[in-house]
Amino acid sequence: MVSLPSAMHAELVAQHVRLRALLLSAESAARRYLAGDPAADFRAALDALRGALSVHHQYEERVYESLLREGESTGTLRVERMIRDHENEHVAMLELLELDAQIVVDVLAELADDLIAHIAAEERIFLGAR
Ligand SMILES: [Fe+2]
Ligand SMILES: [Fe+2]
Repeated sequence: MVSLPSAMHAELVAQHVRLRALLLSAESAARRYLAGDPAADFRAALDALRGALSVHHQYEERVYESLLREGESTGTLRVERMIRDHENEHVAMLELLELDAQIVVDVLAELADDLIAHIAAEERIFLGAR
């Protein structure tokens, strides 16, 4: 595991907690949308999730990138690939969340699985979760 200063560790854990909560809200808004609620309510839930993910993305870019570069004297290609893969995963999720509610509702379960897996992997690698 990579070790993080405790304030950063706490901030990342708090952001993950918030993302999980916003994801649950979006999933519940999706169910209400499918039951006939206005698309605007679902859109608002998606925008809240997207906003928090975007803030989180920028925070992690700074934290993880410096950690990975510091912690690795050799094998920089591996580090570059990890950084690029991480970035790509965030960008793919952010782009999906921008699409029409009508489209997102069909892929939200898949997006939720991806986001939960993404967070779980980070918590194993960077935050010491088991
Ligand atoms: Fe991430
Ligand atoms: Fe994260």
